[in-house]
Amino acid sequence: MALKRYEGKAKILYATDDPQVLRVYYKDDATAFNAQKRAEIAGKGALGCRISSLIFAYLQRQGIPSHFLQQVGDREMLVQAVEIIPLEVVVRNVAAGSLCRRLGIGEGTILAEPLVEFYLKNDALGDPLLTDAHIALLGIATPSEKQALESQGLVINRHLQELFGACDLTLVDFKVEFGRDRQGQVLLADEIAPDTCRLWDRRVEGTSTARSLDKDRFRQDLGGLAEAYQEVWQRLRSVIPPSP
Ligand code: TMP
Ligand code: ASP
Repeated sequence: MALKRYEGKAKILYATDDPQVLRVYYKDDATAFNAQKRAEIAGKGALGCRISSLIFAYLQRQGIPSHFLQQVGDREMLVQAVEIIPLEVVVRNVAAGSLCRRLGIGEGTILAEPLVEFYLKNDALGDPLLTDAHIALLGIATPSEKQALESQGLVINRHLQELFGACDLTLVDFKVEFGRDRQGQVLLADEIAPDTCRLWDRRVEGTSTARSLDKDRFRQDLGGLAEAYQEVWQRLRSVIPPSP
């Protein structure tokens, strides 16, 4: 039995023979609102793993380094071991979710410039929004490291907008996490999948509710989560050439 190194809400990390490599198992569990809402959705883990693998490989080809090494089996991936920086870096192109609730901006408003926000990765505190001063106060990142994460978030945003745009999907917003490897290099980590993005279908007219192909389907009890993830997977597959 492989040694469990960490279990999160949606994934389990296992040790491998190589101390620099971890195996990530994607669970079928869906959670929202800091796990106050939970369910198990058959097929979600495999789809999340496949989508994340495809996106990490795509980003690596665009020159974005990440912890991703390869997908193994249907719902697992090998990744480089990193120490996760406890920040959730959110990039937004269109107003939705907590931005609308916090600032009163209408859902669907296109932002003049992409907005980057930092949240503390701490469920017990409800992942609070952080200012630059908070990040410095907590000693999570120096101002220049924080600046580098913001720039990296914006570069990732440009690549993901292009990729999802080719799939007729609007990238409303997304969350990424970064980690430090043994050499101290900062790498994109965790996952990028419809659990961590808002994706609105351009082939459907109407409200965000009708167009959502992401975890909002679970957050808002809309149903059809696995079907939505399957659709995202199929569209990505059709635009991303297979890895050499
Ligand atoms: P928010 O509007 O709820 O702040 O979410 C912004 C984006 O971040 C959205 O694409 C969902 C993603 N997200 C996560 O991946 N994990 C989280 O814990 C939260 C709160 C949001
Ligand atoms: N990821 C968080 C949770 O599982 C919040 C969310 O995505 O809505 O609770």
